[in-house]
Amino acid sequence: MKEVVQQPVEGVTLYQGDCLKIMMEQPDNSVDGIITDPPYSSGGIHQNVKNQTTGQKYTSCNAINSFPDFPGDSRDQRSYAFWLSLWLSEAYRIAKPGAPICVFTDWRQYPVLSDVLQSAGFVWRGAYVWDKKNARPNKGKFRQTAEFVLWGSKGNMPSNDRGVGCLPGMSSCSVNKGGRFHQTGKPVELMKEIISIVEPGGTILDPFMGSGSTGVATVNSGRQFVGIEYTNHYFEVASQRLKKQPV
Ligand SMILES: C[S@@+](CC[C@H](N)C(=O)[O-])C[C@H]1O[C@@H](n2cnc3c(N)ncnc32)[C@H](O)[C@@H]1O
Repeated sequence: MKEVVQQPVEGVTLYQGDCLKIMMEQPDNSVDGIITDPPYSSGGIHQNVKNQTTGQKYTSCNAINSFPDFPGDSRDQRSYAFWLSLWLSEAYRIAKPGAPICVFTDWRQYPVLSDVLQSAGFVWRGAYVWDKKNARPNKGKFRQTAEFVLWGSKGNMPSNDRGVGCLPGMSSCSVNKGGRFHQTGKPVELMKEIISIVEPGGTILDPFMGSGSTGVATVNSGRQFVGIEYTNHYFEVASQRLKKQPV
């Protein structure tokens, strides 16, 4: 695939292509935070369910059935761990010392992500909880109402000199808040809470930006954004959303 680079507005750089290759071209110690929502390779316990398309696994209503599927979501556990380790090691190299990293996952992939986050070099510091509010009822069982943002930092993370106050440990926010732009898109309101862990004015990298929700929240907050997306459709959606700043 040919790499595409766009700078739709000042402070925003977008790349279309495989993030692993594009991250390899980024300088050492160059971003103040990494906030991202990679493919989970989840949706079921067994590989035959994981092998289904993202639309089959993750969409249950007509409103989002029209969004295109995305790649990278059918790895088995061993190859998922190996792949996480490839890009998280690059993320570690690109992050400045002390920079936070926040990575979305679900309950099934939480253990592998927490292991690989640390094996890539990051200090694991916690799990932020996103209460999606409208998860499907689960008769006789607990409702799977949460997704998780495992977070940590590149080494020590000073509390006093980063200009960041005390932050909550969870958000309750409907998946549909603010409209849908992606099969598994995250609401900008949620991303606004999560990016606030990065120092004001800093540069945030999202290597799996999808429709650009991290970017919208980042630019609205006055921070700089570097986004990468593989799928042509979602890259175009992100470019359009980020052109319209402030949103
Ligand atoms: C879970 S979605 C991100 C959704 C995003 N948070 C949003 O709100 O729109 C993951 C995205 O990663 C993209 N992706 C998968 N493999 C990739 C790769 N190797 N490099 C870059 N992007 C990739 C997919 O196309 C998909 O859009």
